Formats: sequence, C-alpha cells, structure tokens
Amino acid sequence: MRDALPQRDDETFRELSADLCPDPLPGECDAPAPAAAIDGQEEMIAFSKVSISFGEKAILEDVSFHVDRGRTLCILGRSGVGKSVALRMLMGFLKPDSGSIRVEGGEITGLDEDGMQAIRKRVTMVFQNGALFDSLSVRENVAFPLRERGELDESRLDATVDSLLLLVGAEDVADLLPASLSTGRSRAVAIARALASQPEVVLYDEPTTMVDPIIARRLGGIIQRLKKQLGFTSIVVTHDMRFAESLADSVLFLHQGHAHFFGTLADFLASPDEVIRQFLALDAYRLPKA
Ligand SMILES: Nc1ncnc2c1ncn2[C@@H]1O[C@H](COP(=O)(O)OP(=O)(O)O)[C@@H](O)[C@H]1O
Ligand SMILES: [Mg+2]
Repeated sequence: MRDALPQRDDETFRELSADLCPDPLPGECDAPAPAAAIDGQEEMIAFSKVSISFGEKAILEDVSFHVDRGRTLCILGRSGVGKSVALRMLMGFLKPDSGSIRVEGGEITGLDEDGMQAIRKRVTMVFQNGALFDSLSVRENVAFPLRERGELDESRLDATVDSLLLLVGAEDVADLLPASLSTGRSRAVAIARALASQPEVVLYDEPTTMVDPIIARRLGGIIQRLKKQLGFTSIVVTHDMRFAESLADSVLFLHQGHAHFFGTLADFLASPDEVIRQFLALDAYRLPKA
C-alpha cells in the first residue's frame, strides 16, 4: 500500500528543510504551499461514525470528521472528552467499537500489528513528554528514526539531522542530553525526531501544555512552517484557543461524546451555539485583543 504513495525523497526533504527561514513567528513565513496543500481536496484522514466506550462509559459516539492533505485540524474540547482517545485510535493503540477510520482512503480499523506499524510510519505522534531517549544526545535522538529507516551514510545523516534541528530552532543544543533541555526545547526536539521518520501526517497532543506563551508561539510557528513548506497534514489537540486560532484550518469540537462542531475555524469562532460560546468564554487564554 505504501508503495503506491508519492514518496518524499531524502534529497527533496533536505532541500526543503534547508530552505526554511530560521525563526519566523506564525503568519510571518509565507512561502508558497506545495500544490497538494493548495488544492486541499484529497482526504488524508477520515473518521466516520466512530464510537468507543470503556466498560459502561461511552467516550465517543458516532464521531465523524476529516482532514485534507496539507491541512491542519485542531481538536478542541474540555478535559476528559476523548481528544487523546481519538488520536490513539488513529495510531491503532485503541480500536473503536464501531465506525470507520481511513488513512488516505484505506481502512485501518481491521489492520493487525504489522499493518498498523506501516501506518505509524505515515502518521506520527509527537508525545507530550517528548519521549526522548535519555541516554542519547539530541543529535542521536533525531538520527534514530533515520537510522531505523536504513540511512547509513553518515554525512547525509548529519546533514538531515542538522536541517531538522535548524527547522525547529534547536541547532544549538545538538550535543546536549535531553535532561538538560527546557520543556519547550525538548518538545521542539521531539518534533524534529518525529519528522525524521518522514511521516505524512503529524499528530500533536497538547503541545503547549506547561510551556510559557512565548514558547507556545514558537511551537505554533514551527507547526505552521511544517505545514506551509513541507506540506504536512496535522492534527493538533489543544485547549489553547489562541494557539488553535494561529494554526487551524478546521476545528473539531468534542462535547459530551459527540462531534458538537466540525467546520472551519471562522465558523467556529462566529458560532452562536450556546455550548461553543461558553467554551470560548471560559477559555483562560482568550484575552481581549489589544
Ligand atoms: N485506556 C483507557 N481505559 C479506560 N478509560 C480510558 C482509557 N483512556 C482514556 N480513558 C477515559 O476516556 C476519557 C477520555 O480521555 P482522554 O481522551 O484522555 O481525554 P482528553 O480529551 O482530556 O484528552 C477519560 O474519561 C479517560 O479517563
Ligand atoms: Mg488528552
């Protein structure tokens, strides 16, 4: 199945990442998006009527949404509503009780572990705690997925790692151990490592939790850049409305087990719906615009 996909070859990947501007803030880096991202027609991820419960407790019921190639979906909703569960189903760590989950048109719910491993090469999660290897330097952490993919040429490997670290603004910590990094830095490195596996879809679970607003803005800038210049499709779980506003093309708002809203960011922000208004009003980050 993977062979049928357009592959992002190493050379292009390196060139693209080398071209990136060093540290633009959201909206400041306006390089043209790849053609696939402009069309935005191709459905990359689709949930159809997905339900899952744990014991007696229904968590998600008949949840449907989709993300087109090159687009960013933000999943919003109160704590405990099932946002992380949705991502874990997409990674195959949890199986839905019913419904369909498709990656580029291919159903994944019936796949065995081997099939899921192939999907995880295309759909990568950036874990909140970074999940970096403690005993490896930042450089070796990022090199790890490249080595796993069979990259043996050390100079090419070095060049790719350098460009990934530059991309996320972590080039100056290449030789440090993860333990010496701040939370924001280790998340940036975790993003670089996730990208080293050259996925098509990147999932972020609460990337701005526990980091200050400046770092949050910087992480937002990184995610935005990956979308605009490398054409990644992203799903970002967040409760940080300001962060969501800077990134989202579309929004899935989960409430009481249901997809209470799925649509554009603009429609979400303008929605007269009572529950959405309350969610927006309660959001601690939603300060009045100066
Ligand atoms: N593996 C599991 N077994 C039982 N309950 C779970 C499991 N994973 C999540 N839950 C429950 O599902 C609900 C949704 O969790 P989660 O998706 O983590 O929420 P959030 O929207 O905050 O990410 C919570 O009530 C959580 O306790
Ligand atoms: Mg969660």
